[in-house]
Amino acid sequence: MANIISGKELAEEIKAELKLKIDELKRKGKTPGLATILVGKSPASIIYVRNKGLACESLGIYSEQYNLDENITQEDLVSLIHKLNQEDKIDGILVQLPLPKHLDEMNILASISPDKDVDGFHFYSVGRFFCEKDYNNMKKNKLFLPATPYGIMEMLIRKNIKLEGANAVVLGRSNIVGKPIAMLLLSANATVTICHSKTQDLANICKNGDILIAAIGKPKFVKQDMVKEGVVVIDVGINRVDDKIVGDVDFDEVSKKASLITPVPGGVGPMTITMLMVNTVVSAERHLNEG
Ligand code: GUN
Repeated sequence: MANIISGKELAEEIKAELKLKIDELKRKGKTPGLATILVGKSPASIIYVRNKGLACESLGIYSEQYNLDENITQEDLVSLIHKLNQEDKIDGILVQLPLPKHLDEMNILASISPDKDVDGFHFYSVGRFFCEKDYNNMKKNKLFLPATPYGIMEMLIRKNIKLEGANAVVLGRSNIVGKPIAMLLLSANATVTICHSKTQDLANICKNGDILIAAIGKPKFVKQDMVKEGVVVIDVGINRVDDKIVGDVDFDEVSKKASLITPVPGGVGPMTITMLMVNTVVSAERHLNEG
């Protein structure tokens, strides 16, 4: 039976470190602030945004939540973002994805000021971390790394998983998880293979992975016979099946072969929210020091 990586416990550890920084900022007269923008009424997005607000509250970060009608125009949404770009009490702006089809996601994300892009989805943030070769430098330079991949990296590193030279297989190629986690693992000297819906012989590629990141949104897709003995498995999936939340990995099967595995819930999810808080605090520190 595998050991379980508790994202919940690691997130608590990181939040305790973060609380000290927030208290220090407040002593200097700066309260970090996050604005979240939700368009429409997707039940999953409502929960994610609410959890982000609750995390802010528990840490003493100021937060504002904008709940917008699903028919909002591009112009109105961009003009709200431009207003938030100018507000001193806001250090981070997050537009919850996905957006309704009539909105141009790329351009909306690009309207966020890069110095408030705590989600790391602006072209500037993506290009900035793409160009940095070394993960340690990314951290030293306090780049805004996208929260889910950032959380995964912190889990692997805090659990002392050897990344250098490891074969890492990433299932999924989204801008939110698959592509950025592949780039981050590469920056930590792993050999990375990205698989997607058109990949041939996917099971055999997975079997070669010392580390397997599953981010494809298919419930219990990864089975025991697709993984190597001793693999480290990070399950990013959040799928609702019969009123239960399950990951992209068949936990009961795969945990028999894995050396380490994240549960769903309680694995990647809490880390994602925590790394968003980390980025918001970094942004507040920068705003305080650089004006
Ligand atoms: N939708 C799913 N994950 C995320 C995330 O990390 N940030 C935003 N903004 N939307 C998401």
